[in-house]
This record gives sequence, structure tokens and C-alpha cells, in this order.
Amino acid sequence: MEIVHVSAECYPVAKAGGLGDVVGALPKYQTKMGHYAKVVMPMYRTKFLYDNQWVVDFKGRANLGGWYFDYTIIKEATSKLGFDLFLVDINGLLDRERIYGYDDDVQRFVGFQIAVCDWISHWQHHPDVVHVHDYHAGLIPFMFKYCYRFNNLAGVPTVLTIHNAQYQGWMGWDQSYLIPHFDEWKSGMLEWKNTINPLASAVKCAWKVTTVSWSYLEELRYNSNGLEALFEYERGKCVGILNGIDTDVWNPATDTFLTNHFNFETATDGKQKNKQQLCAQFGLDAGKPLIIFIGRLVGEKAAEILPDVVLSAMYAFNNAISFLILGSGEQHIEWRLKQLISHFPGSYNAMIGYNEALSHLMYAGADFLLMPSRVEPCGLNQMYAMQYGTVPVVRSTGGLKDTVRDMGDPDGWGIRFTHPSVGDAMHAVGRAFEVYQDKTHLNSMRKHMMQIDNSWENAVQQYIDLYKSIK
Ligand code: ADP
Ligand code: GLC
Repeated sequence: MEIVHVSAECYPVAKAGGLGDVVGALPKYQTKMGHYAKVVMPMYRTKFLYDNQWVVDFKGRANLGGWYFDYTIIKEATSKLGFDLFLVDINGLLDRERIYGYDDDVQRFVGFQIAVCDWISHWQHHPDVVHVHDYHAGLIPFMFKYCYRFNNLAGVPTVLTIHNAQYQGWMGWDQSYLIPHFDEWKSGMLEWKNTINPLASAVKCAWKVTTVSWSYLEELRYNSNGLEALFEYERGKCVGILNGIDTDVWNPATDTFLTNHFNFETATDGKQKNKQQLCAQFGLDAGKPLIIFIGRLVGEKAAEILPDVVLSAMYAFNNAISFLILGSGEQHIEWRLKQLISHFPGSYNAMIGYNEALSHLMYAGADFLLMPSRVEPCGLNQMYAMQYGTVPVVRSTGGLKDTVRDMGDPDGWGIRFTHPSVGDAMHAVGRAFEVYQDKTHLNSMRKHMMQIDNSWENAVQQYIDLYKSIK
């Protein structure tokens, strides 16, 4: 099948979180399994752009709210990512250093989507499916169906994958002029609660909708930032497909970011070496159980409880435990996490920022990974942790619930807790501290989870079956 993925992120071109990981891996495994998968994304000014060779694939001209703009589609020349990668270059609009966070993000992503539709409308043939990811590509199913300019695409099947329904891309009706001329009778297909809501529009207009775990799909019906009734109404077209992990990138036996490689048979020794390297780098004592957190420091991840969890744990365990945090996000959380560093030398440290290489060493060297997430559509961190023999300590929600089994259950290997609160997290940290003292149990859990198959193959087949059902 020919599949076109449209996304704002794709690893290693540009990544802000798990969306990038998924869009960098799913098409690769689709291609490996005999399909033709392409990715099209904005051309940001990233290192990947400058380090690689590009060929011009297409040049076009489109209209964004009365402003005619020229766009160029460039293609990565060697297909070294394992799929064909196309970037949309719109001068001045997309070619910026960051992915998100500009005042004109609405114009940027609407312009991007118009260019993508315009480009595909010039193809001699139609792809089997256009697979859009999150709200940044969410207006495409509407544009295919109802924008006069693209009426030759009305019959092209579209699939929406929701990686995160917290962000919906709301636009006021005063911005409707940005969307190419459409059938006014269909304006309801853009709307949710009196605004243009690109995510809601995609749920209404895409032929099928997927979420990145089964439990998250259930949760969206009662907690989806205002879209609950919509998910209830559209439940018939929605399906949960759990993400996989890219084992070419995330494999402790071959990881190019690590100097000490290991597998499930050599994990005890291999992890200890990585732990020593990591602890030396951050002035921590490698003899203590090491709990890490990696991620965006935002409310969704319940990151604001981290400083109090660290404080409480230091007192409860008399500094016999250590924490290392890597992340960036809300300033007040960053500030509190930084402020604690001087209080607990040897037991606590935090690195504020984004660091891909360090994240690999942390998964490899830590004993436990804490994820108190309030909302977690899938979560990749816990699957990376499992792959590297690091016990996940997670709140029972969304994809965390679907991928981690509590060690109290038969064959369980992780620690789960119910509320994203300091109390519940502390109870879970207490259980982690206890299991750390029982090395036989800890090592058998490690071995077990390192052999769990979280690879992409299974999910790829489910996506292919879904595409076939609408072809
Ligand atoms: P989300 O996409 O909601 O942020 P996921 O668990 O799906 O959460 O994916 C997060 C991805 O981003 C993982 O690959 C994780 O290792 C990575 N990541 C998050 N924050 C950082 C950071 N500060 N430095 C390095 N990698 C990070
Ligand atoms: C989102 C979600 C995360 C998920 C990722 C990839 O960023 O917050 O839970 O793992 O997308 O699907």
C-alpha cells in the first residue's frame, strides 16, 4: 500500500516528544513490511537539514488567506531513514529553529497543510491512504472533503492518529479566511464549541481515528479537554493501536549512545557500569537506588509533584536513595527542581534541557523510572525503560496501564499507583526502595521485562488492516 504520513515531527529530523519517535519509526517498519510509506513534514532549520542531501521534488504556489505563497517540496536523497522523507519549504513561515511556540503557529501549520494538499492534488495517482498525526495535520481530512480547490482528493481515505488530545489547535472564526474556500454548509465540520477546532474537525472528517493505546481511547470519552461528547458520538470509527518502540534505536546491546552495552543476560553487570558512568557525571552515589524522570515538565506529566516527591523521599529514606531528572517545561517547576540540587549533593541532581544522548544513558543506568502522568496517551519512556531493564514506576493511566503490569500480579515487573499525588508516588517509591534491597527479585524482573516484545511489527499489521478496511 502507499501511505503518506503528515506530521509536525519526525525523529531524527525534528522531535519534541513521542510524536517524533512514532513518525520516525512507524513508516520505517511499514516499509520493511513491504509497503511504500512516505513522511511529509515542515522544513524547519534543523541540524538534520544541513547534514543531508536533498533533491527538489516539486514546486508549487498556493494561497493562505489571500496571500499567494510559493512552496518547494524537497526529498531526502538517500532514503537513509528507511522511508521517503519530504519536507515542505515555505520561505519565512516554516523555516525556523523551533517546531512550535511562535505567535503565528496557526498560519504556519495551516499554510503547511494547504501546501501538502496542493502537492498531493497534483499527483498523477492517489495514495491508498493519507495518515495525519495530531492537530497540526488535522485540517487535511476536511480540506480533502470540502475545499473546492482540492475536490479531486475527496475520495482519498484519511486516517487520524491522536497522540495527544490536550492540544487541539483552536482557531477563532475570524481566522476561517485562512482555510481555502470551502462549502459553507459544511462549516460545522470544522467547529467545536464555537471555535474552529482542527482536532475535532479531524475526528469528524477522517475516515478512521486511532489513539495510541486502548485505555486512552476509553479515557477520552470522559476526559479529553472538552471533546468528550464527540468521542462518545464517533466511537464507531475509533480504534486503539498501541505504539511500538524502534528497536534499531532503542536496544541496549547496540545503542550508539552507550559505551557499555548489555542484553538481558548481562544486564546486572551492564547496568551497573552505565550507572557508575551516569552517577559520576552527576555527582551521585552509585550504591544507592537511582530513580529517574525524563520528560516534559508540565501538568500532563504531573511534573509539579516531582520536587515534593524528591524532598519527601530524602527525608523518608534518610538520603539513602537518589534521583536524577532530565526535562524542560514550565518555569516554576524547572526553578524548584534546580533549587533542590544544592540541598542533596550525592543524592539528587537535575538537568534542565533536552538531551537525547543523556536520555539513553539514563534509561541504561537507572534502577527505576518514575512517571506520575496525569494523562498519558501511550508513553514511550516506560517501554524504553523496560527494554533497558529499568523498572517502570507509573501511574495507572492510558498507555501506562496497557504496558506495565504491577509486580504484585503474577509475572508482573513494574510498580503502579493510582493518583498523580505526592502521597501515592511516595508509596510507590517506598515499594521501589524495598525491591531494590531484594536483588534476586530485582534481577528477575529486569530479565523478564527486557524480553517483552514491544516492537513495531504488531502495530504495523493493525494499521495495515485498518487501511485495508477503508480502501
Ligand atoms: P510525550 O510525547 O508526551 O512527551 P512520550 O513518552 O511519548 O511523551 O515520549 C517522550 C520522548 O521524548 C521519549 O523519547 C523521551 O526519551 C524523550 N524526551 C522527553 N524529554 C526529554 C529530554 N528533556 N531530553 C531528552 N529526551 C527527552
Ligand atoms: C504524545 C503522548 C504520549 C505518546 C506520544 C506518541 O506525545 O503524550 O503519551 O507516547 O504522543 O504517540
